Amino acid sequence: MTTLLHLDASARGGRSDLHSFGSHTRRLTARFVERWRAMARDTCLYRDLGYGPPAPVDGAWIHAAFTPHAQRVPWMHQRLAESDALVDELIGAEVIVAGVPMYNFGVPSGFKAYIDNIVRVGRTFGFDRERAGQPYWPMLAGQGRTLVLLSSRGDHGYGEGGRIAGMNHVEASVRTAFAYIGMTDLRTVAVEYDEYGGEALDESLRSAEAAVDRLVDAMLAERAAAVPATA
Ligand SMILES: Cc1cc2nc3c(=O)[nH]c(=O)nc-3n(C[C@H](O)[C@H](O)[C@H](O)COP(=O)(O)O)c2cc1C
Repeated sequence: MTTLLHLDASARGGRSDLHSFGSHTRRLTARFVERWRAMARDTCLYRDLGYGPPAPVDGAWIHAAFTPHAQRVPWMHQRLAESDALVDELIGAEVIVAGVPMYNFGVPSGFKAYIDNIVRVGRTFGFDRERAGQPYWPMLAGQGRTLVLLSSRGDHGYGEGGRIAGMNHVEASVRTAFAYIGMTDLRTVAVEYDEYGGEALDESLRSAEAAVDRLVDAMLAERAAAVPATA
């Protein structure tokens, strides 16, 4: 049994296939989860980072997070409670499906707050300045998690080798932060041309939806191949 963690980070409510002015990333994440669950009756948890972003880290959070667990006083546990819940949820999932639009070349603030809350010393990465060689290490490495990043942007040409690929800090920052904690299996699909509309957007949406369908099928096939059938 796999647990899916479904995250949405668009500030727009509703999916663009069901609501005018709805979100393309919400549309893609919903499509991914619906297709997955039509074929595999796995558990799915949902978190809306667009409507309910985690509290951004502040001085109290940093003080608490960098105080060893045994030395924390009650206010520190309280301040870290939300972060602990987010980390527990992430650790409990095998597939994380994140809808993350491009806002000013990077991720929306709610998704950045999420990253800041789940990249946690002692929980998702280790740090020991006395450790020879590499004082930082990823704590979630080798545990088989996959991150599916479904994005959307208004302009076009942000894909690998594209005319403005260097301005795309969405995939790059998400890849870096999750690899840092040990989640290196990243699959991506993106819609472009939202600001253009018309046939260019329609074609991009069709192509992204087909890519999402192929991705679900491929991931389920990988899982079936990895788990030998019982007699
Ligand atoms: C605050 C804001 C900033 C944006 N910045 C960019 C940008 O830097 N580059 C771009 O191509 N599109 C940008 N866009 C367009 C969005 O990426 C595009 O509308 C995308 O479809 C939003 O995702 P959603 O459909 O899931 O809401 C921006 C949109 C908003 C609302």
